[in-house]
Amino acid sequence: MALDVNSAAGNGYSIKRLKLNQKPPSDVPIYIGRGIVHRGLQDFSLQSYTRRAILTDKNVFRHWPEKLSAILCDKDDLIIVIPPGENAKCLETLHNIWAVLLNYKFDRKSILINAGGGIVCDTGAFAAATYMRGIPFIQLPTTLLSQTDAAIGGKTGVNFGGLKNIIGVFAQPVAVVCDTEFLSTLPAREYRSGFAEIIKHSLIADAGMFRKLNTVDLNKLKETEIQKILIKSCEIKCKIVSSDFTEKGSRKLLNFGHTVGHALEMASGKTANPLLHGEAVAIGMIAEAKLSTLAGLLSRDELTKIEKIIASAQLPLRAPRRLLSGVMAGMEQDKKNERKKIKWVLLKSIGNAIFDSEQPKQLIKEALEYVLR
Ligand code: GLY
Repeated sequence: MALDVNSAAGNGYSIKRLKLNQKPPSDVPIYIGRGIVHRGLQDFSLQSYTRRAILTDKNVFRHWPEKLSAILCDKDDLIIVIPPGENAKCLETLHNIWAVLLNYKFDRKSILINAGGGIVCDTGAFAAATYMRGIPFIQLPTTLLSQTDAAIGGKTGVNFGGLKNIIGVFAQPVAVVCDTEFLSTLPAREYRSGFAEIIKHSLIADAGMFRKLNTVDLNKLKETEIQKILIKSCEIKCKIVSSDFTEKGSRKLLNFGHTVGHALEMASGKTANPLLHGEAVAIGMIAEAKLSTLAGLLSRDELTKIEKIIASAQLPLRAPRRLLSGVMAGMEQDKKNERKKIKWVLLKSIGNAIFDSEQPKQLIKEALEYVLR
């Protein structure tokens, strides 16, 4: 594992390098700071590409038309705007992106810049990774959730058959640029949703970070405090991804809360009150922490601490009971399952997790009923 932190905090931004143990080794710089889109992108001389397109969604483009347009260099460059929301993370959107790239004669030396939340970043990255067997792309995450998780680590894909991210590939961007200025226009609910992944990183790998998160009011952070939390959170994610890019082993830890969370997100998506990804993951983390307690791994006291921090981030703790059968059905098709057995990420303590744990049906049901009431 190699994580090279090149902090330039004095200049108002940080650069981290996510180094991957591949042959030949590759690395992906991650820029974190305010107003750093141009600083982050100028290192990659966008002019040297034959064409540039920005993929974004309607909401992001409405708030940031000038900031995004200023990235482009040529009259033939494009801004591709997709609808906001989880429903856009689908094959039809991919089809439309590929069609635009083809119609506008994008070639292998052209670049796609994905400016948006997890939906834009995951979908755009998959479109780039598959168009002509792969063209370069840059991730420009605009939500707290995508800056801390979705844009980092090279997972790309779309939903299919009612399942989250079931079609996709691993592919690394040229760079990830996390400009915290974008967070200023996020609706409060979207913003809070990002805390779920930050809390998750502390739960699976860093008890010290969990303690620190408990000393601040997560919903009243200054931008510099958010940047520090983002840096720490990215360090944890980079360390895990660097050691297991294609999720054969330890990267599975990053799925804590997601076995229940993904199923819950998809089940709630069919109702009048869909949960955001981070909200579903927050409830999923409580269910999976409860399962850890039922399995005799995690103390009740630590389960309570986990519920408390999720509540203090103003994330939901429970979901309606009527989602139970949909959640069970979704979990049965989880990507991590092997031979129809659900493989759980569980906590032994805060900051210490295990993966590939199998648990009896009765305990799983009890854990689900704990959060679905
Ligand atoms: N979001 C989980 C991962 O990147 O592995």
